[in-house]
Amino acid sequence: MLRTFSTLAFAAAVYGQQVGTLTAEKHPSMAIQACTASGCTKEDTAVVLDANWRWTHVTSGYTNCYDGNKWNATACPDGKTCAANCAIDGADYEKTYGITTPSDGALKLQFVTKNQDGANVGSRVYLTAAGDGSKYRLFNLLNKEFTFDVDVSNLPCGLNGAVYFSEMLEDGGLSAYPGNKAGAKYGTGYCDSQCPRDIKFINGEANVGNWSGSSSDANSGAGSYGSCCAEMDIWEANLDATAYTPHPCKVSKQTRCENDADCGAGDANRHSGFCDPDGCDFNSFRMGNTEFYGTGKTVDTSKPFTIVTQFITADGTDSGALVQINRFYVQGGTVIPNSQSAVTGVDPVNHISDDFCQQQKKAFSDNNYFSTVGGLTGMGKSLENMVLVLSVWDDHAVSMNWLDSNYPTTSPATSPGVARGRCDPAAGEPKTVESAHPDASVIYSNIKIGSLNSTFKAQ
Ligand SMILES: *[C@@H]1O[C@H](CO)[C@@H](O)[C@H](O)[C@H]1NC(C)=O
Ligand SMILES: *[C@@H]1O[C@H](CO)[C@@H](O)[C@H](O)[C@H]1NC(C)=O
Ligand SMILES: *[C@@H]1O[C@H](CO)[C@@H](O)[C@H](O)[C@H]1NC(C)=O
Repeated sequence: MLRTFSTLAFAAAVYGQQVGTLTAEKHPSMAIQACTASGCTKEDTAVVLDANWRWTHVTSGYTNCYDGNKWNATACPDGKTCAANCAIDGADYEKTYGITTPSDGALKLQFVTKNQDGANVGSRVYLTAAGDGSKYRLFNLLNKEFTFDVDVSNLPCGLNGAVYFSEMLEDGGLSAYPGNKAGAKYGTGYCDSQCPRDIKFINGEANVGNWSGSSSDANSGAGSYGSCCAEMDIWEANLDATAYTPHPCKVSKQTRCENDADCGAGDANRHSGFCDPDGCDFNSFRMGNTEFYGTGKTVDTSKPFTIVTQFITADGTDSGALVQINRFYVQGGTVIPNSQSAVTGVDPVNHISDDFCQQQKKAFSDNNYFSTVGGLTGMGKSLENMVLVLSVWDDHAVSMNWLDSNYPTTSPATSPGVARGRCDPAAGEPKTVESAHPDASVIYSNIKIGSLNSTFKAQ
């Protein structure tokens, strides 16, 4: 799913993964609550901007190590030298990236932010644990529920406001990789189930080998290496579409892939890599209920609402096998169960289980690589150590059609599984959406993690 991008800020420095000091790094506060049947306790968590968005410059001065979508060959002849020569710097969250905290426990991500260097498009942040900001907040989601409020009323077709978990290392790889001196405090160590190759530093080395600039994104490119790990998409959504999707991997924790086969790169390798890039998605529209989600629908996206996701284990313990993922919404004090599947060949359920995934993949003629790499049990093992990710992004690969329009674009919209939302397939072209809706934004708030049924109230 993810893409990154950024314009360069100019400001302070952290090194290479060295640390630059030209801009002070100050994480915006975003408190969450940890709940049990007897109540909730506040945790003083914060968010940190991903390293890829940051200014990367030589440790000795202001020269860019990475500019546009190219590496400086002098500073970065190879990955190790580059990591030693270059620093990533602190971020001005509001001015450069449009990241603000409008109220206690709330985070607003602006889509396009005009700044001193031009403009920044999209952002991705991670939740850090209470303390000095050098560790991500690790979550064990098994036998728990995860709840938050969202306002997608200003997030049109083609955009994706995402809340998800990735199996990143708690310190961002600082202790595992000597070349990484920045760590979680500077947002290092990202990984997901697409094994993204646009990550500039992986495992303490720059990803300069075979780097080529993107043809559609002046600020992005891809190297030989990718950064893989299991990913649990709680929420990928805009005003008109939503999906929740587990993506397991054969590998445990953040793992670097070094060739097309392991990275699952290209159509030929899509179902041979370390991770499942497709996942097993529950998108209400795709599952046959086109009236459930959207403006004026059962879940009315013109107003804020609450999203509850429950991770049910076979034995009801926090280490049992994951067997089911439930979804509820709460809006205006009413609990709204997820929509039921109305697809021929799929039981009329409103949750994700291995049976649901198997039936859905068959009904839609999709490869069940989800099952091959471990299914829900595999996903569950990863869920014991997850890092929370919040982002807003547009899609340079396929214009977000997989979420809110018809996909694959070459198949008739009437083929089972192709129609995923009512958006125009052209609406999500980055050029179009960036010029038509630069002021788009999403607000996430009121995040809670807790025992089952402890984070929301049925009225
Ligand atoms: C590349 O970096 C070197 C210093 O390492 C610097 O002298 C040179 O000007 C840089 N080149 C560009 C194009 O920025
Ligand atoms: C660049 O690609 C070639 C051919 O795929 C590969 O053999 C080589 O190892 C790659 N270089 C790096 C640094 O990964
Ligand atoms: C949570 O609430 C649901 C619906 O009221 C109920 O079926 C379920 O047993 C409850 N689970 C726990 C662990 O309390």
